[in-house]
Formats: sequence, C-alpha cells, structure tokens
Amino acid sequence: MRRLETVAALHEWRRDLGGSLGLVPTMGFLHEGHLSLVRRARGENDMLAVTVFVNPTQFGPREDFARYPRDLPRDLGLLEREAVDLVFVPDPQEIYPEGFQTYVTVPELSERWEGASRPGHFRGVATVVAKLFVLFRPERAYFGQKDYQQLQVIRRLARDLGFPLTVVPCPIVREPDGLALSSRNSYLSPAERQAATVLFRALQAGEAAYRAGERSGHRLQAVVKEVLAQEPLAKPDYVAVADPETLEELDEVGARGAVFCLAVWIGATRLIDNCLLARP
Ligand code: PAJ
Repeated sequence: MRRLETVAALHEWRRDLGGSLGLVPTMGFLHEGHLSLVRRARGENDMLAVTVFVNPTQFGPREDFARYPRDLPRDLGLLEREAVDLVFVPDPQEIYPEGFQTYVTVPELSERWEGASRPGHFRGVATVVAKLFVLFRPERAYFGQKDYQQLQVIRRLARDLGFPLTVVPCPIVREPDGLALSSRNSYLSPAERQAATVLFRALQAGEAAYRAGERSGHRLQAVVKEVLAQEPLAKPDYVAVADPETLEELDEVGARGAVFCLAVWIGATRLIDNCLLARP
C-alpha cells in the first residue's frame, strides 16, 4: 500500500496507472461503514485509492473540526488489510493552497435540512469532492447512504460538471441495535449511546406507518417525532419526509417514494440517520 501526502506525488502515481480506479473519500477514524465502501470498491476496480482528510471547509466555526476523532496509524492498518493500493493523506495546504477561493456550490440541494442547520457545510463537501475527482479521475467513487443528502449533492455535482465517473451509493451499516455507525458515536457516554438507538426506532416507526398505508408527509413526520419525544436525552434538530432526489418536503408521498431524514442532538453530539422508502 502506497501512502502519499502531496498533490505532486499523487499526479505522478496517477499518470502511469493502468486499469480502472475506484475512489473512497473519508475523513478517517474508520469503522465498518467506511470499510463496507472499501470492500465494495476493491471488488469492482483494478486499483483502489482511499483518502483520509478531515476537510476543514465543511465544518462551521462552532463545530467539531479540532476535536473530530483521528487515528491515522489505526486507519492505515485497517486499509492495509483491505488491500488498498493507495492512501492519500494530504495536509490542508495541499488541498487549499494559500489564497484558495474557488468553491463548488449546489445551492438548492444544499439549502435544506442538513444545509440549513450547517451553513456552508455542503459547499465544503462539494468543493473537496470535486477536487478529489479532478485529482484522481476515478472510474467509480463510493459514498454511503448514511449521509443521504451529501450523496444527492455529490450525484448532482458529478452530473452537472460532467465528471466521467459513476457515483456508487452504498447501504448504511448499523450496529446490532440499529445505531448507524459514525465516527461521532465515539463522543457518546454509555447512557447517550443507549439513548442514540432512538434514531433508528423512530425511522422504523415511520416506515411501519408508511407500509400500513399512511401517505401524508405531515402525519408520517408526526409518527417519527413522537418516538423521538419518548427519549429524554434526544433533542430533534429536524425530521424530514422528503422527495428522494430533490429533498423537497412532501405533503403527500407519491410514486417517487420518499426519504425520512433526521438530525438529533444526543447531549452535545449531533447524529444523523435516514431511511429510504421503496417506491410503492
Ligand atoms: P466520513 O464521514 O468519513 O464518511 C466517509 C464515507 O463513509 C461517506 O461516503 C459516508 O457516507 C460513508 N459512511 C459513513 N458511515 C457509514 C455507515 N454507517 N454506513 C455506510 N456508509 C457510511 O462523509 C464524509 O466523510 C465527508 O463528508 C467526505 C465525503 C469524505 C468529504 O470530506
């Protein structure tokens, strides 16, 4: 496994590369969710690159950039075991050189939900992902459905800018009790970790109501909120019943189906989760 830290070294590596290249962008502190993307990509490409970069531009001024969990030696060991060909671990100056001012924005998709709560977040995500697409020129890039709105933003930018690649969505990996794996779960105390299961239970209740025939966006949202309200440690930020592609709020779930997206504070930790409802 090669480990590169500079854009110059990466260009050199990419220049002589034959076969198809798969790319898995991450912010590190890897868990089975990340590794599911890595394994899928390993099976579908001749060469496989993973990036480990805690991207400063996608964190707000009052967010957790400085304390975001990091463990590079452990990450490198895990990636080595997955037979990754290249791991790219750039310093921020490599991605954002002095005077950097060119950003990618996907305004409509970015303004809702996660974007409304975290202004500038998707601008940072879209910009770093577009840069990685330019640097790596992969055939396929792998993203988790755990970050559903992020996945839609990235699909839109790949189509709009005409990147010749396939964005491959990968299913959410969960703990046995339903909690979606996330690097941020490491912030939770034991009591909070227990309380955090409410996200999945709320989504399941919403899905059950949908399966039972409920199609009103408002009533589906109420079902999800009711379950969240039963957990004293949980403070919902938003609960969305939205169109799976545009993420616009739905009055009525129709032929395009819906996605439930939620963000919930558990103590000082903000967790997100979602559930895509199959089209009827
Ligand atoms: P990060 O949170 O490290 O996640 C990297 C990738 O792993 C993302 O595509 C994310 O959706 C996926 N992932 C995380 N938890 C998952 C889970 N439980 N199941 C399945 N996939 C999961 O998302 C980012 O980093 C950044 O925003 C990034 C795209 C790297 C840009 O900086």
